[in-house]
Amino acid sequence: MQIIRDIAMLHRAVTALKQGGKSVALVPTMGSLHDGHLSLVRMGRRVADHAVVSIFVNPTQFGPNEDFGAYPRDEARDAALLVEEGVSLLWAPDVGTMYPGGHSTHIEVAELGADYCGAARPGHFDGVATVVAKLFNQVRPDVAIFGEKDWQQLAIIRRMARDLDFGIDILGAPIARDADGLALSSRNAYLSDAQRAAATAFPEVLNAAAQDIVGGADVGDTLAKAEAAIVKGGFDSVDYVALADADSLERLSAFRKSARLLAAARIGKTRLIDNLPVG
Ligand code: PAF
Repeated sequence: MQIIRDIAMLHRAVTALKQGGKSVALVPTMGSLHDGHLSLVRMGRRVADHAVVSIFVNPTQFGPNEDFGAYPRDEARDAALLVEEGVSLLWAPDVGTMYPGGHSTHIEVAELGADYCGAARPGHFDGVATVVAKLFNQVRPDVAIFGEKDWQQLAIIRRMARDLDFGIDILGAPIARDADGLALSSRNAYLSDAQRAAATAFPEVLNAAAQDIVGGADVGDTLAKAEAAIVKGGFDSVDYVALADADSLERLSAFRKSARLLAAARIGKTRLIDNLPVG
C-alpha cells in the first residue's frame, strides 16, 4: 500500500491505478479506524478495482470547543489495518497541504445542513462538504463510500455531488454496531465503562420509538417519550430525536415510508449520533 502526502504524487499514483480502465473507490476517513470503517473499505473493494482511503482529521469541521486536538490519531495502526484489507493507496495529507495559506473557498449545502447536527454544530457541515469536495478533486474516484451512521452527512454529500456534477457515485454503507447495538464510532473511545454500559440505552430507545411509530403511535409524543427515556438511561442531554424524510431531511410529524429516525445525545463530554429506518 502506497502512503502519499503530496498532491502531485497522488495524481500520478491514481492515474497509474486507473490504467487499463480500472475503477477507484474512495473511502474518506478521519482515521482512528474501527470495524465500521473497515466495512466501508470492504464495500469499496467489492464495487471497484482499487480502494483508496484518505485519513485527514479536518480542522474546519470542528467547532472551537470541540475535540479537534484530542481526536484520536494513530496512523501506523490505521495503515496496518488498511494493508490487511488490500487497500491500494492511503492519502494522508497534512493540514498545510489541504489548506494552504490563503485558502478561502467554502461549500455550503444550505438546505440540508441547517437542522439537526448542523444546528448543534454551526459550520460543521460546511467544513465537511468543503473537505469532501477537495478530496473528490484530489483523488478523482469513480465511487465514494460513506457510513450511514452520519445520515445527515451522507445526504449532504449526495446533494453536493449532484449539485456540483462531480460524476461520482455516492454509496452509503450500513451502520456497524457492537453486539449490544451501540453504533461503532471513534468517539466511543471517550466513554468510561459506566458511560459505555449506559450508552446501550440509545439504540434501544430509538428502536422502540421506530416500532411505536410504525405501529401508529403519535409521532410528537413518541419523540418526546424517546428523549426522556434516553436521559433516564444515563445520558446528560439530547440534542434531537426527529423523524425526517430520508432524502430531503424535512422534519415529519406523521409516518411515511421514506422516514428515518435521527438522533444525537450527549453523555459526559461525548456526543453520540445514531439513526435508523422506520418501517
Ligand atoms: O465522516 C467522517 O469521518 C468525516 O466527516 C469525513 C467524511 C471523512 C470528512 O472529514
